[in-house]
Amino acid sequence: MAWCEGVLSLLLLLAVMATAAPTDTLQKFPLLMPHVKPERAETYFCTPIRIDPTVEYYITAFQPNASMETAHHMLLYGCETPGAEDEVWNCGEMALAQPGIKSAPVCGSGSQVIYAWARDAPKLVLPEGVAFKVGGKSPIQYIVLQVHYASVERFKDGSTDDSGVFLYYTETPQPKAAGVLLMGTGGRINPNSVEYMETACTITEDKVIHPFAFRTHTHALGRVVSGYKVSRKGYFDQWELIGKKDPQLPQMFYPIEKDLILKKGDTVAARCTMESKRDRTTRVGAFNKDEMCNFYIMYWTPSTEPLRQKYCFSPGPPLYRWQQEFSSLPKDASVIPASEESHYYHHSHHHHHY
Ligand code: CU
Ligand code: CU
Repeated sequence: MAWCEGVLSLLLLLAVMATAAPTDTLQKFPLLMPHVKPERAETYFCTPIRIDPTVEYYITAFQPNASMETAHHMLLYGCETPGAEDEVWNCGEMALAQPGIKSAPVCGSGSQVIYAWARDAPKLVLPEGVAFKVGGKSPIQYIVLQVHYASVERFKDGSTDDSGVFLYYTETPQPKAAGVLLMGTGGRINPNSVEYMETACTITEDKVIHPFAFRTHTHALGRVVSGYKVSRKGYFDQWELIGKKDPQLPQMFYPIEKDLILKKGDTVAARCTMESKRDRTTRVGAFNKDEMCNFYIMYWTPSTEPLRQKYCFSPGPPLYRWQQEFSSLPKDASVIPASEESHYYHHSHHHHHY
């Protein structure tokens, strides 16, 4: 009977909509430290969330937890497998491990940074329609929160910390995939010298990449980190700035200078200008006494998957230099942005090690 069928299909439709409705709206997930009590300065703690491997979620914004003046910086890593199965583990320099808390890397495999917070960073809302795809069949099966506690003074009275990030997500597929390309180098810095640590890679995948934020990371010797798009036009290399920052400033994601796109055949290049007043050689490594040269590009691409390529690493000095492959070099790659010069020495005490 037509009438009965009409009622039936209306009921079915209502039932489907009722279950579908909440997933259409943005939901909020708290990824917070489970009230930890770090005992030593320079502690790095990690805490994971397992994402449902049967459902794909789309993360569109990151909101730092407001009650977190205690954290020096925080990073969110997407992992295929986590570094440990514990609720909290020590994921910094092993020498600073806290008794009773295991030490392990952030990720067991498939590590990629998807968010970084440092002093004063506001909520990061990805551009309209852009999302990090996690869970389901994506390579991000876990998200691990890493918090750096520079000082532990305020925990001496027994208080605990729930620093972290609220993730805004939806189950509705988003048209643009967010991704992060991590550029970096190996290499060494000679005593009492200025060294350039450089890397470059050509995009080989048939995707259009829209960078929208960048982050720099070095330890104490980094003076300026810059990243470029390089278009090779015959004998002439055209350099366009993606971003440049004093890495002693808060190491969060900053908006890129001007809109540009990267396509198959374009090259991305990054340089860290390092200044050593040490009497020893400094090498690239995870510890505070070592150095790192990292330039992160956060981008979106108008497809369901980001680049397969997640890294662009070179051996660094003395084995690799830009001049080996480019006919021209940008003149201002090592010039500190003028507006930031005054911060230059104030942050020289700042340490990062992971
Ligand atoms: Cu820090
Ligand atoms: Cu580092």
